[in-house]
Amino acid sequence: MTSVATLLAPVEEDLKTLNHNLRQLIGARHPILGAAAEHLFQVGGKQLRPAVVLLIARATMTDGEITARHRRLAEITEMIHTASLVHDDVLDESETRRGIPTVHSSFNNRIAVLAGDFLFAQSSWYLANLDNLEVVKLLSKVIMDLAEGEIQQGLSRFDSELTFEAYLEKSYCKTASLLANSGKAAGILSGIARDRADQLFEYGRHLGLAFQIVDDILDFTESSETLGKPAASDLRSGHLTAPALYALEEQPALETLIAREFAEENDLERALAIVHETRGIERSRDLARHHAEIARQNLAHLEPSESKDALDGLVDYVLRRCN
Ligand code: IPE
Ligand code: IPE
Ligand code: MG
Ligand code: MG
Repeated sequence: MTSVATLLAPVEEDLKTLNHNLRQLIGARHPILGAAAEHLFQVGGKQLRPAVVLLIARATMTDGEITARHRRLAEITEMIHTASLVHDDVLDESETRRGIPTVHSSFNNRIAVLAGDFLFAQSSWYLANLDNLEVVKLLSKVIMDLAEGEIQQGLSRFDSELTFEAYLEKSYCKTASLLANSGKAAGILSGIARDRADQLFEYGRHLGLAFQIVDDILDFTESSETLGKPAASDLRSGHLTAPALYALEEQPALETLIAREFAEENDLERALAIVHETRGIERSRDLARHHAEIARQNLAHLEPSESKDALDGLVDYVLRRCN
């Protein structure tokens, strides 16, 4: 079994440079906001998104060498992602992220909202400075999608009428849009043909959907320690994700518990037990596999290279997280 580190070997050096540059970019102009942002970048996440951007850059440049713009795009991508997490944790009232206290719990909500805004604003500035209107359009749409996704999710809490289509649309907005658009943008910066750029978009979209479905499964199956963020939190907050939506189809009793927002004693425990008793998790795994397969098919146009192999390997890595 390949570890993520082995998988990301083609961009290992690039990711080191990225970490160094991110620290420089966030800067120390505003000490409090800088401290809040640093707080997250210092611990570091999996850096899946910049890795995808860098791998696509390497796989699409004929000489295998990437440009300063590709690097900047990868940095912008991680900045946007981190900003979205800071805001998401405020909305979810989550206490931990990446194994440490969240920005709002270390400081307060005002600082966290400002820190997220600050990162979004900085990412927009660096984006504009890439001087490529098409790339600006792709990535600014991501920021719109992120807000749209959070709004959709906020409006459908505890709504057992939520359709699968709406769940996938929300997942596209919150997670897949960034992978799809940044992957396509990396191809555009390499000057590839439009139809190939569109296939990179589809790779990112389906990889992102699979990734979110897996994250939604892990919320039911893993501990908070393993995740570095609160487990069993989606259902509690009324976020109905794939495992719960499938469970609702099999066990209408779940609906009553959701409708009263788990107000009575042991309601949440019963609801979690129902999800585990049904085929909800198994069917969610199948759904993640389905999207992973489509992601993989959209790599076919790339010339053979170790970066292409890594993009393929990432599809398996995403699935392995929940198996
Ligand atoms: C968390 O993303 C948000 C989701 C889309 C589920 P990651 O799991 O990639 O978070 P980090 O960056 O590694 O912390
Ligand atoms: C994705 O969704 C988060 C964002 C991209 C804002 P989740 O809400 O499932 O992410 P976690 O579980 O809090 O990391
Ligand atoms: Mg969340
Ligand atoms: Mg989650």
